Amino acid sequence: MAIGVFDSGIGGLSVHRRLVERFARADFVYLADQANTPYGGRPGEEIVALTRAGCERLFAEGCDLVILACNTASAIALRRLQQTWLPDIRATRGRPTNVVGIIVPTIEAATGLPWEHEAERRGDKVEKLDVLAVFATPATAASRVYEIEIDKRRQDVAVFVEACPDLAARIEAGAGRGELAALVAGHVAAVTRRIGRAPDRAILGCTHYEIISDVFRAALRPGTPLVHQPDATAEALASYLERRPEYDPGQDGRRVFLTTGEAGLQHTLAAEFWGGPLRFDPA
Ligand code: DGL
Repeated sequence: MAIGVFDSGIGGLSVHRRLVERFARADFVYLADQANTPYGGRPGEEIVALTRAGCERLFAEGCDLVILACNTASAIALRRLQQTWLPDIRATRGRPTNVVGIIVPTIEAATGLPWEHEAERRGDKVEKLDVLAVFATPATAASRVYEIEIDKRRQDVAVFVEACPDLAARIEAGAGRGELAALVAGHVAAVTRRIGRAPDRAILGCTHYEIISDVFRAALRPGTPLVHQPDATAEALASYLERRPEYDPGQDGRRVFLTTGEAGLQHTLAAEFWGGPLRFDPA
């Protein structure tokens, strides 16, 4: 089999690149739903339906395990698909089949705690000394998943989520670094104003933003640590594959890139990130 990696567009490449480094021999199929990108401003039901269609496409491509390399799909669609859709799909396919997301590993990395660890709630007030800024799409921000799940585990961490409505779309469109730098600077300034000071750490909570992490680094206070979502996802996949040997990641190092949008070469921004021109085939 192969491992499927799904995103609305090129953002998931940031996760995919780390996965292919870590699992060099495994087979990977990347699917970008560029006909429907961006997801971040869409209603929840649409995000669920589009994510489901993407997973179906990857299952048809021989992927038993699909990673949603997209915070928006992970925040809005994953639980619903796992609870109401995957059981039927498993029965129809008659093989182990799963979809996993990237928010759980990111929260584990941000809290330094395994997902199962929920802090015991005590009555006394805990000082929030560690201020974490999360940059995300409007849908991810509205889900409040980062605030809720981090607060369950680490009451000493204050989470400020900054919704960045146009950013993924502009990255997807291959906008120039100057335009992106101005957008990012505006969001960093906005969250800094809300906090009242610079954040201690940050999460680029939309995989598109990792493609331009240099732009975020330049806008944040120098040296601000970033919780690295691709690393966290690679770690989580390694431990998942160890625990679930029924998922065979393949061994031919096959790399397939599919798009629901226009097939062909991706733009400079994607190529710069990838380290060379990147061609997508029609999905
Ligand atoms: N890259 C995605 C994410 O991580 C989706 C961006 C979008 O389609 O709006 O949220």
